[in-house]
Amino acid sequence: MKKENKYEYSLSLIKAVLEGEKDLIANLGNIASVLKYEMEIFWVGFYILKENELVLGPFQGPSACTRIAMGRGVCGAAWQRKDTIIVENVHDFPGHIACNTASKSEIVVPVFDKNKDIAMVLDLDSDHLGYFDEIDKKYLEEISDLITLQVL
Ligand code: SME
Repeated sequence: MKKENKYEYSLSLIKAVLEGEKDLIANLGNIASVLKYEMEIFWVGFYILKENELVLGPFQGPSACTRIAMGRGVCGAAWQRKDTIIVENVHDFPGHIACNTASKSEIVVPVFDKNKDIAMVLDLDSDHLGYFDEIDKKYLEEISDLITLQVL
């Protein structure tokens, strides 16, 4: 199946699990699960902004580092830039935080609250090089907007 079709199906599942449910942890957990299993992602999870640090939230995959400071790694850089970052090879990204040696490429998408401040980032890691592209960015930003509108 094409990546776009997998994302369309994932979006329909995510919309269904968010329907009528406002609990943050439950919803983020289900979104991580849908992305992990429908998009075949090695690691997917949320880092939630708490007291000026990103703290690990619901995720699917191997255990990961718990806290990330502003500007550190890909997650901290996406927070600082308030923009999506695609990294084709994590070894080429200065300061990349290696939570798992299997991770080879990565995309991090910011999630904004209703005041347009960063609330969290959505982090996807692949065990293949160059796994993420503009298609992932488009759909993951759509999921980020859904979280802003329906969960936060
Ligand atoms: N790779 C991330 C850290 C989080 S783990 O990959 C789960 C980064 O450099 O921001």
